[in-house]
Amino acid sequence: MTTPASASRPPRAELHVHIEGTLEPELAFELAARNGVALPYPDPASLRAAYEFEDLQSFLDLYSAAMSVLRTEADFADLTRAYLVRAARAGVRHAEISFDPQAHLVRGVPLEDVVNGIAGVLERSEAEHGITTLLIAAFHRDRDSADALDVLERLLAADAPIVGVGLDNAEVGYPPGLFQAVYARAEEAGLRRTAHAGEEGPAQNIRDALDLLHAERIDHGIAVVDDPELVARVVAEQVPFTVCPVSNVRLRAVPALAEHPLPAMIEAGMLVSINSDDPPYFGAYVDDVDDAVTAAFDLTREQRAALAAASFSGSFLPPDRVAAYLAEVESWRVAGA
Ligand code: ADE
Ligand code: ZN
Repeated sequence: MTTPASASRPPRAELHVHIEGTLEPELAFELAARNGVALPYPDPASLRAAYEFEDLQSFLDLYSAAMSVLRTEADFADLTRAYLVRAARAGVRHAEISFDPQAHLVRGVPLEDVVNGIAGVLERSEAEHGITTLLIAAFHRDRDSADALDVLERLLAADAPIVGVGLDNAEVGYPPGLFQAVYARAEEAGLRRTAHAGEEGPAQNIRDALDLLHAERIDHGIAVVDDPELVARVVAEQVPFTVCPVSNVRLRAVPALAEHPLPAMIEAGMLVSINSDDPPYFGAYVDDVDDAVTAAFDLTREQRAALAAASFSGSFLPPDRVAAYLAEVESWRVAGA
């Protein structure tokens, strides 16, 4: 199930997607009915019409309300399956999917139901959807870090099939340093480490994620362009940045796609990939994001292939798998040369 070299878009990895953020309004209503949960909108169209955001927090408020329909292992399985079906159509060959255990634990959903629902579907993803996957447990930075540590211990004790940890939710006021003990424990347990930083917050959060959390990858990270010394460092170290340009516009971190720092990041020599974040909320899966940035910045086939290659190089896959995927990107690149 490889991508034909003649395809209009390159094969890619999606490294930054929140499984809760892939909940389509239609599925939200189906699950609401199944579980007897009330949504504060009469139908899917009205829910979708509410996807107009002022900033990250206004999105997080609606996002948390909508995910209240996710209650059972089957709900998490249905959500995951729906994402994989759509991601396969987008040309995704590998996905590193994050989930927010705390968002469900606070609603009384057992951790095992969340993990088993998602992981049970991911196990069959390569065979059924042609997509290899890895799972990341992300912690809420606007909750007490002791709670994150407790949840991490529970995931480790349950031998949950996670490759690594992440950090998400409200950024401003919650600097990475608060989560040093959580990340130290994750590192000790052999887990990989990524963190949202420099989405709405300052470049210093990116530096702190690297230095204090030993993050191996940065999610968003667009504030890096405010700090030339940091840009030089992340170029030298080839730190992967999972950039979500459409999300940044929809959450008003940048005023318009034309003003997004993506071209400056590419030009500087950073290892950047493009990703969807929360596709239905922002009206764009990763193929739509590719189309949008290609049009906005007049990207060449070479540049699109470089973004796709960076998505694999920045993954947590073993080197032999990365090399095989890079060969697919190269076939796509030369097919149009
Ligand atoms: N959770 C889901 N999407 C997010 C984003 N863009 N930033 C922080 N936390 C998130
Ligand atoms: Zn995100």
